[in-house]
Amino acid sequence: MNTQNLFKPFNYKGLHLKNRIVMAPMTRSFSPNGIPGQNVADYYGRRAAGDVGLILSEGTVINRPSSSNDPNIPHFYGEQSLAGWKNVINKVHQLGGKMAPQIWHMGAVKPHTSGWLPSTPLEGPASMSEKDIHASIEAYAAAALDAKKLGFDTVELHGAHGYLIDQFFWPGMNTRTDQYASGNRFAVDVIKAVRAAVGADFPVIIRLSQWKQQDYNAKIAQNPKEMEAWLRPLVDAGVDILHCSQRRFWEAEFEGSDLNFAGWAKKITGVPTITVGSVGLDGDFFGAFRGDSSATAPLDELMRRLDRGDFDLVAVGRALLQDPQWVQKVRDGGELQPFTKAALENLL
Ligand SMILES: Cc1cc2nc3c(=O)[nH]c(=O)nc-3n(C[C@H](O)[C@H](O)[C@H](O)COP(=O)(O)O)c2cc1C
Repeated sequence: MNTQNLFKPFNYKGLHLKNRIVMAPMTRSFSPNGIPGQNVADYYGRRAAGDVGLILSEGTVINRPSSSNDPNIPHFYGEQSLAGWKNVINKVHQLGGKMAPQIWHMGAVKPHTSGWLPSTPLEGPASMSEKDIHASIEAYAAAALDAKKLGFDTVELHGAHGYLIDQFFWPGMNTRTDQYASGNRFAVDVIKAVRAAVGADFPVIIRLSQWKQQDYNAKIAQNPKEMEAWLRPLVDAGVDILHCSQRRFWEAEFEGSDLNFAGWAKKITGVPTITVGSVGLDGDFFGAFRGDSSATAPLDELMRRLDRGDFDLVAVGRALLQDPQWVQKVRDGGELQPFTKAALENLL
């Protein structure tokens, strides 16, 4: 099969990638007290050495007392955590890679299974005062500016999967009656603040999904018109690239067309998009949390869509968690590995 278009460089704004493959953001919880150590730098360094075009970090939380439900998830604030991230990006750059942190606030989620609790209750659209909202917007902007200052190549805002930004998008959790009742308002304010902080030339990505961890069948947009009403204001507010999260990239977003989420997002907004979801594997990632393995799957359908121009970049999660050499094996030929739950146990 011809995978040539996966290996074309990508140039957009200040972002120059050697190929179209993106490491999907994956929480690993190996950063005690929120500080990413040398093991985290080495883990991402192996993906840079393995020719991943753009590495997206695991979600890393902003400076709010209740942005995280897990003490082993890295912070993107505080001297020690930022020094840890500086070490990560230096390592990735030394090895020829490019990287963005995925900036995260979990919002109102269930407490971690360990029982650990943050110092103040987890906040979400239903409980946040306007003051909390403004402080959160500022914390996103501060994190994005720190990403730029540390030397990261771009930044990704986590606006997907039922976490804080997505909780505002979704009527299932946004029960407000003030100006933030309008689903896009919070995200638009975050993007504007981030753009003001990083300046015009620093690329900003936002990750979005229809599905929520709270409801796999949720849909923010039922049709292309609703999708336009959702996405256009985000692009107008200053986002450059839309990262469109699906569990299975080959699933059509709306009836009457085989375009997936990234395909529609690109068609509607005209900005570059990233697709994701079970690339190279035959089972989706929810299974990974139940401990399921996934066999390898061919890339023909992915290439058909990429060759057709549906999207610009392809994010790969578990296949790259399993095997830092996945990109090189796809390019040069080599035996691809199935995903096994054992890969989650260590930072390899
Ligand atoms: C262990 C694990 C952790 C994840 N953590 C995050 C995360 O922090 N942020 C995020 O946006 N998605 C997260 N995801 C979702 C992945 O980014 C990706 O969208 C999903 O795994 C589908 O890609 P795949 O089928 O190639 O694995 C995680 C997935 C896995 C398997």
